[in-house]
Amino acid sequence: MDKVQQQYEAYPYPARDPVDEAKRLVVGSPSNPVEVDHMIFGGKRNWKKPFRALFAGGGTGDALIMMAQKLSSAKCPAEITYLDMSTASRKVAEARAKARGLTNITFITGDLMTAPDHGEFDYIDSTGVLHHLPDPQAGFNALAKAIAPGGGFGCMVYAPYGRTGVYPLQEALNTLTAGEAPEVQVAAAKDVLKGLPSSNWFPKNEFVGDHKVSDAGLYDLLLHSSDRPYTVEEIAETLDVAGLSLVSFHEPGRYDPRRYLPVPLWPRLESLDAITRAGLAERLAGDMKTHCFYAVRKDQARSQTKFTQTARPRLGDLPAAALGRQIEKRGEVKIESNGQKVTIEVPKRAGALIALADGGLQLGQIAQMRGLDWIAFSSLWAPVDEALTGFNLLHYSEGMS
Ligand SMILES: C[S@@+](CC[C@H](N)C(=O)[O-])C[C@H]1O[C@@H](n2cnc3c(N)ncnc32)[C@H](O)[C@@H]1O
Repeated sequence: MDKVQQQYEAYPYPARDPVDEAKRLVVGSPSNPVEVDHMIFGGKRNWKKPFRALFAGGGTGDALIMMAQKLSSAKCPAEITYLDMSTASRKVAEARAKARGLTNITFITGDLMTAPDHGEFDYIDSTGVLHHLPDPQAGFNALAKAIAPGGGFGCMVYAPYGRTGVYPLQEALNTLTAGEAPEVQVAAAKDVLKGLPSSNWFPKNEFVGDHKVSDAGLYDLLLHSSDRPYTVEEIAETLDVAGLSLVSFHEPGRYDPRRYLPVPLWPRLESLDAITRAGLAERLAGDMKTHCFYAVRKDQARSQTKFTQTARPRLGDLPAAALGRQIEKRGEVKIESNGQKVTIEVPKRAGALIALADGGLQLGQIAQMRGLDWIAFSSLWAPVDEALTGFNLLHYSEGMS
């Protein structure tokens, strides 16, 4: 058994108890079906049609269970495949599916390099996995081959700057504990953490906290034998080699360098291409410890969904009427993004439009109900679209909410 496999047999990640399924559904990005529709399918997927998804390195099943539950609730005829080499992780994921009575998942224990052998998929999720492979590019290439025409990919890999302090400590712990049993390594790492000098960067980094949550988190963060972070530019290059094209980083608003620069400097951004701008945002923000993104096959390159008259806006769990009133009153929405408080400005006049954006109506119908022609509506909706899709508060989808 190789070291990575040994780790995930000892510490299935993330640590989950199937009993908790009775209390809550873990929801996140990527792979929330409404988000997948918005990012990959132009907000127009017919979810009554069959849908095949693969969770490559599905772990203990967070994203898998979220998608399986949501598609089951929406009565989508979905076939979801879980593929992971850790039998201990599979046990947890299977028990979670059983606790929910989900019957739309096939569980396979195996290497994700075999993904193309399991067929073609409309959607592939691989979060927190590819940066652990001995040859991550080969992993990207294998998953790209298994994406069906028109399908897409949702991925998360580690990012270097938000993990400042992690890598020197990983190297130090490797020097001290390499070859020992995972439990012994964890105990030693805890002792090292207790005695770290105040000059060390790791405890100063407020963005990393997995080591405080569970032993599995500590092992994953500080003792992993194979962990390669990616900058924005490296992701773009890796996707390109795999025959994939980036749709969008997630949340898109965090990758807009204007967020981190005073307005007089904005003209300097105009000559920069999209990846350079996103890379600049990564370096200015400093808090990106992972990159989550959606991609499609290069032969079907596209950007994230633009709004049209037939698009159906979805605000997730946000109550449209209350949000609309708040915007009419204050001209802003306050949210939390990556643990930071963010204030998003939205024109007050758009409040009346947002109040109708509860998923039942198309944008053209909302315009009509407010007595606006499409041009007047669009100029009012464009800043709403940019602000709310930028922070994962608004998606377009025909049949998912
Ligand atoms: C950090 S966990 C992430 C789990 C899950 N995707 C999530 O985000 O919650 C990484 C998972 O990838 C699996 N894994 C690593 N390399 C793999 C490979 N070559 N083939 C299949 N699974 C692999 C591990 O067993 C582990 O369950």
